Amino acid sequence: MAELLSTKIHETLPEKYVRPETQRPLFSEVITETKIPIIDLKSPVDQTISQIAHACQSYGFFQVVNHGIPDELLLKVMAIAIEFFRLPAEEKAKLYTDDPTKNVRLSTSFNVRRETVHNWRDYLRMHCYPLEKFMPEWPSKPDLFKEVISTYCKEVRQLGMKLLGAISLSLGLEEDYIKEALGEQEQHMAVNFYPQCPEPELTYGLPAHTDPNALTILLQDPEVAGLHVLKDGNWIAVDPLPGALVINIGDQLQALSNGRYKSVWHRAVVNSSKERLSVASFLCPSNSALVSPAKKLTEITPPVYRDYTYDEYYKKFWSRNLDQEHCLELFKS
Ligand code: SIN
Ligand code: FE2
Repeated sequence: MAELLSTKIHETLPEKYVRPETQRPLFSEVITETKIPIIDLKSPVDQTISQIAHACQSYGFFQVVNHGIPDELLLKVMAIAIEFFRLPAEEKAKLYTDDPTKNVRLSTSFNVRRETVHNWRDYLRMHCYPLEKFMPEWPSKPDLFKEVISTYCKEVRQLGMKLLGAISLSLGLEEDYIKEALGEQEQHMAVNFYPQCPEPELTYGLPAHTDPNALTILLQDPEVAGLHVLKDGNWIAVDPLPGALVINIGDQLQALSNGRYKSVWHRAVVNSSKERLSVASFLCPSNSALVSPAKKLTEITPPVYRDYTYDEYYKKFWSRNLDQEHCLELFKS
């Protein structure tokens, strides 16, 4: 069993977290002037849809404001998440597992069974839909954990469905196209805790990766930055915008949009002065969903990717390292 980072203070960076010299974050090269788009969901619908189209095509990422999830709830989620990681080590040890197939698990890094270099992150990963099925397995401490997180999960799902509708329309598809294509969508959550790191320039919270799911809704720490997105070959920093949520296209929407929308590389870096939290909610196709480029889009451009089931995709995703290329396979005629 690997040790959780959040159980003690670290004065030095252990060797197993040190990246080879050519793979380090290079903070001086990160661009802070370019920003991912901020989209106001209270704007007129046509405007929102064209902004979403632009953001998905050019960045694969955007932030949303006026999204309907109350600020107060976002703050409660952050507060309960930090409380969770501050639980006594014995309490957290009860939830710890290295097994990525578990529905609820507290773990560290990404996939400690496979990695050669670890990441400066502890995380709690949970299945969240349907809530009645998975909530009984969620952590029972802190006391308000289940109540706050389940309220947030419902709100996130509602927002996610609204965004999938807008993304469908932005591709020229029927509003319900994506929702229907993805089946009875699963919803997962990763609560990430990145402790203060003695040598942040040598390691990552999460190395560059693309998300394997359809859509990610990320609640970032409102005070501590750390998310970088790859844009035209450069890393750009996504500043926290209190009350906003960061949205990104995952591999499944890249496939479904026939490559029009990109599942973009992103990474989380750490810092030496402050711990950082983020709460990622993932909307995923149902396991049995057959994912294929939307027919209407393949009439314009021939299919780029071959069809597959999400189950097949997800198994492949967890059998390789996080910082590898996505697992989409090109269509062969
Ligand atoms: C992620 O990519 O899942 C998390 C990024 C972050 O912590 O900002
Ligand atoms: Fe991610």
